[in-house]
Amino acid sequence: MQNNTFSTLFVGQNLIKLSEVDSTNNFLKVLVSNSEPLTEGTVIMADKQFAGRGQQDNIWHTEPGLNLTFSIYLKPSFLPVGKQFLLNMAVSIGIRNALQRFVKDGIRIKWPNDIYFGHQKMGGVLIENMLSGSTYKSTIIGIGINVNQLHFDSRKLKSATSLKEILQQDVNLIELLAEICSHIEKQYLQLKAGGYSQLKDDYVRGLYKFNEPAVYRQNGEVIEGRITEVTESGLLGILRAGELRHYNFKEIEFLNNTP
Ligand code: BTN
Repeated sequence: MQNNTFSTLFVGQNLIKLSEVDSTNNFLKVLVSNSEPLTEGTVIMADKQFAGRGQQDNIWHTEPGLNLTFSIYLKPSFLPVGKQFLLNMAVSIGIRNALQRFVKDGIRIKWPNDIYFGHQKMGGVLIENMLSGSTYKSTIIGIGINVNQLHFDSRKLKSATSLKEILQQDVNLIELLAEICSHIEKQYLQLKAGGYSQLKDDYVRGLYKFNEPAVYRQNGEVIEGRITEVTESGLLGILRAGELRHYNFKEIEFLNNTP
């Protein structure tokens, strides 16, 4: 479907809306592997996912029809292998900037790419890359944003919120999708143009708990420190007792209590 409501160059111009699917990432993966070439920027969105996937093999639960669950197809063949975290940064900044059109203050990126409001999760990103030799052939960017849902099952989710809970009013899903696509496109073009330091600055500026004393669990031990950087390769730098240490995703867990 040609999309005239999106003022983008390519992200979301080919928009495929599904009423039900296992996972928009899975659907897009099948489309990409078909022989017909797929236009870069194609977006698959679904009212309902019955097997939505989150990071670390988690399930992504959302009430049908109330939220955004969609995947974007990009071809970042210009991106040197090893610099993939910059794409995470670009996507997270794009989502944050779009949400800031609706909520002025308080939207943060929780490293590596969760979207938070206060101490509650509002959205998440699942990026799946396909490499061809040493270049990125294609990338599927799966995004879930809690929009008009008010009740979250605390047994399934740690602590979640939605735009409606914050604004106390409904948000139009297509308008929000258009905003997110437009902001992601802007950041993606910045990445393509090699604007790495701007991306790193913007990412860190929007980071949850940046430079704040906080507690983390590392190797079963509770530690206190402050985030002072995120490296280009995506490692989280925590300054603890005067020493800066770097952690990857599986090595560190954010704890909610304050020191
Ligand atoms: C996370 O925070 O764990 C990432 C959640 C990503 C969920 C989105 S919803 C659209 C796309 N399709 C999926 O199956 N997952 C992503």
